[in-house]
Amino acid sequence: MYKLLRQLLFLLPPEQAHQLSMFFLRLACSTSPSRRLIRKFFDPGSQQPIQIGGLLFKNRVGLAAGFDKNAIHLRELSCLGFGHVEIGTVTPQPQRGNERPRLFRLPQDKALINRMGFNNDGVVTIARRLKEWREQGQKKSDGQPPLIIGGNIGKNKVTSNEEAWRDYEFCFERLHPWVDYFVVNVSSPNTPGLRALQEKESLKKILTLLQQRNNEKKIQRPLLLKIAPDLSSAQVDDVIALALEIKLDGLVVSNTTIERSGLSTEANRVSRIGAGGLSGAPLREKNTELLRYITERTRGSIPLIASGGIFTAADALEKTKAGATLVQVWTGFIYEGPVIARNIGKAF
Ligand SMILES: Cc1cc2nc3c(=O)[nH]c(=O)nc-3n(C[C@H](O)[C@H](O)[C@H](O)COP(=O)(O)O)c2cc1C
Repeated sequence: MYKLLRQLLFLLPPEQAHQLSMFFLRLACSTSPSRRLIRKFFDPGSQQPIQIGGLLFKNRVGLAAGFDKNAIHLRELSCLGFGHVEIGTVTPQPQRGNERPRLFRLPQDKALINRMGFNNDGVVTIARRLKEWREQGQKKSDGQPPLIIGGNIGKNKVTSNEEAWRDYEFCFERLHPWVDYFVVNVSSPNTPGLRALQEKESLKKILTLLQQRNNEKKIQRPLLLKIAPDLSSAQVDDVIALALEIKLDGLVVSNTTIERSGLSTEANRVSRIGAGGLSGAPLREKNTELLRYITERTRGSIPLIASGGIFTAADALEKTKAGATLVQVWTGFIYEGPVIARNIGKAF
């Protein structure tokens, strides 16, 4: 059924297809009885809740950052069986992102290339939306355990790396009352220079500042870091050392890759698409190796959330065997459809 729908959706430009699908999902979830039906259909079955950093996740499957950047579709996504949704990347000021086209499908590779560039409504608007959702949406969760919301934060394009800490702090402060955990994103390839913040000293400055702010609050939110899959072993070792030193709550492994090797899509087409992060099936193995490496080095002492090339229950199991506690999907949603959380849930 979804295969047919996918064929139709793939006739549209990717961003329009995304907007249209979310519009219809919203329509379908607009009444309480329809939501109950949809929840029932997409229910991934009873699973052991998972505890990480004091948070109780109703299952292991979440939606990765960038899918619901502006926290508009939380109710609908929770009806599809996801245990958590990571909103963002959120920046202090609203941003339009890069010029279109900026999202491309590579169906032969079950992959996407994107250079969205943190298009989002800005933290003030998004915080207001989350506040409303917390106040109204939670009550209408049809008796289900609450959806866990992650806040993925970044910097505006115009902010220099030297001043980046201000942007992360601003977003942290505004979102703190409304999200359950934070992810510091310094690993997107689509904001010029951002990935340089993955160097140890820059990271330490931003993360320790956020931890300090966190400790000043009545409630502390788990703080995680999202890393790129393209780091050298020395850089990964640095991240691990820092994470252990400052007792980070976890790592999200990983963002999209700038690599293009081993693709089936014609090389000319790939080079015509140009810059951007590659996601989906070509990322799977590299991502699993990175998870395994970190797990071995840390003896499993840092909680890991896997994000990279997860389409099926078998892919998700591969990630948990490599040391991940939770898994997130993005590109898999586009290729497998809205049943993805239910299908993956069967593995656990
Ligand atoms: C169109 C698109 C937009 C994305 N936007 C973000 C983002 O804003 N912040 C972020 O941390 N990751 C972003 N990502 C990366 C995903 O969260 C995920 O880490 C990556 O795509 C790998 O997972 P996948 O292979 O399941 O897609 C984006 C990915 C895609 C395809």
